[in-house]
Amino acid sequence: MTTVSPALSVLPAGDRRAPNQQIWPLTAATTPSGHLAIGGCDVVDLVARFGSPLYILDEATLRTACQQYRAALTRLYPQAPHRILYASKAWSCLAVCAIVAREGLYIDAVSAGEILTAIEAGVPGDRIYFHGNNKSPEELRYGLEWGVTVVADNWHDLHGLQAWGGDRRPRVMLRVTPGIECHTHEYIRTGHLDSKFGFDPNEMPAVLAFASQQNWEVVGLHAHIGSQIFELQAHRDIVAALLPWYREGRETYNLPFTELNVGGGLGIRYTETDDPPTIADWVEAVVAGMGEVWAGSGLPWPTLLCEPGRSLIGPACVTAYTVGSQKTVPGIRTYVAVDGGMSDNPRPITYQSRYSSLLANRATAAADTVVTVAGKHCESGDVLLRDALLPAPTSGDILVVASTGAYNASMASHYNRLPKIAAVVVADGEANLILRRETPSDLLRQDCLPDRLRG
Ligand code: LLP
Repeated sequence: MTTVSPALSVLPAGDRRAPNQQIWPLTAATTPSGHLAIGGCDVVDLVARFGSPLYILDEATLRTACQQYRAALTRLYPQAPHRILYASKAWSCLAVCAIVAREGLYIDAVSAGEILTAIEAGVPGDRIYFHGNNKSPEELRYGLEWGVTVVADNWHDLHGLQAWGGDRRPRVMLRVTPGIECHTHEYIRTGHLDSKFGFDPNEMPAVLAFASQQNWEVVGLHAHIGSQIFELQAHRDIVAALLPWYREGRETYNLPFTELNVGGGLGIRYTETDDPPTIADWVEAVVAGMGEVWAGSGLPWPTLLCEPGRSLIGPACVTAYTVGSQKTVPGIRTYVAVDGGMSDNPRPITYQSRYSSLLANRATAAADTVVTVAGKHCESGDVLLRDALLPAPTSGDILVVASTGAYNASMASHYNRLPKIAAVVVADGEANLILRRETPSDLLRQDCLPDRLRG
């Protein structure tokens, strides 16, 4: 069997197709010498310069995704303002926060660390929304000091706000479990009633009553149903699930609601068989769902908030590895090992996620060999790609995995004491370091050896 590398779709310059429908970043191309280039940079050169493994973030793809959310909301929801929040749990680092902020996005943060990162990247506190199902008193106080909007997830948050809000008149949203099922991996579903997130609908009257008695600016409601979702109907249903509580909050409890946050969740294309809707399709579905129930409600149109993570950053990044050892189990499979694995991409071992790959130094060579790409960790499940079709890999080849921008760096670990890997951002032929590669001595930075154990 001889097929040209099936994964690489070389797009004409300036192509504006939805990034979440592309396996490879929008700027992916091949050089005259048959190498993969991203953002005008030869990936083989990037690895030679910055080391391996390496996350390579394509700024143009990230910016295009931000712009597509903005354009779709501006066009399809002219009734009221909108806000797009980047769900920074997908990848929180200074450069990513700075790029999305320059595109006019707000930040969704779920810890003091994510708030700190956004602030240090230049995002003002009033452009940060603070989520999380177990905010510590320290985190809550920290967020309040920066003037973030606190998305209260439970009574623990409400009582914390009561205790620490003081005279600040905190800006608060309330997260509701909407009771919407969707088809995605069970670990990343959040909208169904059996979820640790948000207030159960039955609690909402008591929650609204409590919130109305505080010196808070309670601006609206939030729901998020899950992640890597392809079906539009579930997102179309969110507004209808929130509307009764929005109305009750305003009319019965006199809460000054103006904002409705429908969460994130739009899926991306990891492999040829994935077929997600476009960003514009997703916005259209949400807005259609709103139109259905809001138009006759007599309520003013709310500011519409959404908080995508994966569909913004996921397709914008690839990970480059170097091929090392191989093992052929006759009649079964050939394992090709790379110099990273579950520590830089824990998604295959956690969610059985599938990815696409190619060899950067032979990007135009015929993909005629089926191999299983394994990581270097001491765990049989540390397999990045099962049955990948590649030109027969040999030691030293640069193997690139696509769509690794979301929930890779942010979920990285030190398993087997591997230093965390470096990241660069590429744009117009320029590459800049955005995450320094850890060194073995960095790994010991937090270790303490008690005197009695020395010597
Ligand atoms: N808003 C809330 C409240 C969330 O919990 C999440 C994701 C998002 C927004 C962004 O969702 P997205 O647009 O990225 O689907 N580690 C898993 C994904 C966990 C998602 C957690 N919450 C994975 O690697 O697939």
